[in-house]
Amino acid sequence: MKDTDNKFNPSLLKREFAKIYGGTENEARIFSAPARINIIGEHIDYNGGKVLPAAIDKYLYVAVRLRPDTRVSYRDLKFPGLFDFDINDKFVFKKENDYANYLNGVLSVLKRKSGLIKSGFDALIASDIPPAGGISSSSALECGFAYAVNCLFNLNISRTDIALAGQESEHEFMNVKCGIMDQFIISTAKKDTAEFLDCATLEFEYVPLKLGDYVFVVMNTNKKRQLADSKYNERRSQCEAGLKTLQEAGIEIPNLCALSYAEFEKCAGIIKDPVIFSRVRHCVTENERVLEAVKAFKTGDLHNVGELLKASHKSLKEDYEVTGIELDTLTEAANAQEGCIGSRMTGAGFGGCAIALVRKDKTPSFVEAVQKAYTAVTGYNAGFFICTSGDGVKEITDAL
Ligand code: GLA
Repeated sequence: MKDTDNKFNPSLLKREFAKIYGGTENEARIFSAPARINIIGEHIDYNGGKVLPAAIDKYLYVAVRLRPDTRVSYRDLKFPGLFDFDINDKFVFKKENDYANYLNGVLSVLKRKSGLIKSGFDALIASDIPPAGGISSSSALECGFAYAVNCLFNLNISRTDIALAGQESEHEFMNVKCGIMDQFIISTAKKDTAEFLDCATLEFEYVPLKLGDYVFVVMNTNKKRQLADSKYNERRSQCEAGLKTLQEAGIEIPNLCALSYAEFEKCAGIIKDPVIFSRVRHCVTENERVLEAVKAFKTGDLHNVGELLKASHKSLKEDYEVTGIELDTLTEAANAQEGCIGSRMTGAGFGGCAIALVRKDKTPSFVEAVQKAYTAVTGYNAGFFICTSGDGVKEITDAL
């Protein structure tokens, strides 16, 4: 189930690049950007919370080469469409530009910020990451591309600024008011670690991912979700409304996650709207779960990590209401299996993926049983793979 067979070989990208754009295979530079799982800390990055994501060993690749003129061309090996622009265009979101919108969004941010992007270039994309599957295919595209453009034009942008450019493009260009977690982990990840990130300050610490006899299994609902179409922005405004209510009542906090649970209990009565109350409670409790999970990883208490995953899912289901029948079925079935010590949805929810901590030797029976339970309820199959941790965005320079 390690699905190495399905992995894209980046050396193919050089060959395809030369076929599509001409020239020789060695003229294109190749960059990779990972997918991510969020181990715990969901929907709190935009509430000043702490999160614990990790990059995984599924990658998106971007091949780029400068052009002597001002034309900008994008192709993707999987998705149809020939996208051609001029570097001097005023880039705006257009539905018919499909995935090219992500690239144009990032390009316009980098152009504006650096003032150094004047010539055209060709780009070719390939990816192992399931699109719209909740493991950040779009942030991988943004950050992989931003990093490639950074290197191509010698912009010397820091990894934090690569992440911020991706986020800005989502906010301004794609109109998705996402937090910083996905772009940040993809830009700064280190193999064999998870990243304990404080989204209020962007300070972070790498936490060794020592899983012993366990692995993370990613379970894909195969229910496609689009952040923009979903209730993501609505959740964000509900949190803002909660924060405003507390601040107007004199509670001096910069964001919801600045409240400990004990402090929240004291001021909870201020929030009269039951929906807003539940959203705020999720943020406060989830932030505390992250702190506990980091401790549990550091002390090797994986069983407690598992319990925290379960509690996180419950809160996302009942208080934040972002799970749905598919994710609930997967996680319930997962938790019922021998060898699984906990599971939860990962990412924005509303479909997408869940993760489960499963004993290595139990993964075949685990997958079989969870698949059966899932199909019985939904009528279609889930996807499964075991993930290991991955590296953040980088140029691939080893012999391709
Ligand atoms: C999406 C967003 C992130 C984060 C998660 C939920 O993945 O891009 O910023 O808010 O949802 O935790």
